[in-house]
Amino acid sequence: VEKIIIAIDGYSSCGKSTLAKALSHNLGYSYVDSGAMYRAVTLYFLNNNIDYFDSDSVKDALNHISISFQRINGENTTFLNGENIETEIRTMKVSEHVSPVSTISSVRRAMVRLQKELGKNKGLVMDGRDIGTVVFPDAELKLFLTADPLVRAERRNLELISKGITARTEDILSNLIERDRIDSTREDSPLMKAVDAIIIDNTELSEENQLNMVMELVNEKLEHLKKVTYK
Ligand code: DC
Repeated sequence: VEKIIIAIDGYSSCGKSTLAKALSHNLGYSYVDSGAMYRAVTLYFLNNNIDYFDSDSVKDALNHISISFQRINGENTTFLNGENIETEIRTMKVSEHVSPVSTISSVRRAMVRLQKELGKNKGLVMDGRDIGTVVFPDAELKLFLTADPLVRAERRNLELISKGITARTEDILSNLIERDRIDSTREDSPLMKAVDAIIIDNTELSEENQLNMVMELVNEKLEHLKKVTYK
């Protein structure tokens, strides 16, 4: 059976990774959280006092960064230079710096190269901001998620609590509004809906209903590809 690439883009904290994980589980596909890669780079810059407005410092730092993923207890886990940094990259400190870091073209080029490599065998769900537009413009299925900002902030708060991180909902809300602004207005690969992406507003949609809806889209796509192949 043909395997496809599913690209999920959208605003901050719209449940992209929740949906992506469920899809990868259902389909037996791999899952890549591209935001975790930008967060890992940001953490490296912060921990090593890299002035990320200085392009030489950034280029030099990128040569010392190796990002990888492993499944630990069924959870996608991010590693930076061999160290498990999954919890650290979710802190507010990293969230505050990650959008400015993501505007840097040399950072984006390095991440996109790695992301394309991870997709070369297809059978992949990747979520982020430029997956359907830049990383996999030929992805067979593209989704663009959106939801009411306050609902998103509340969901993010619950997610952070489950990871043992405490934050105020109002701080989370202002952070995600600010990140949406920077991510959508940056010059290099801004967050935008690919022309062929399907918009899903999940403000009032349960995770389960959203998953069922998207699985139908996936199955339609796979059926269609089968027909095209046999013709
Ligand atoms: O998905 P996330 O909230 O963990 O992503 C963190 C930041 O990384 C997001 O605010 C912008 C950046 N990002 C990006 O620029 N391009 C991507 N494909 C994924 C994330």
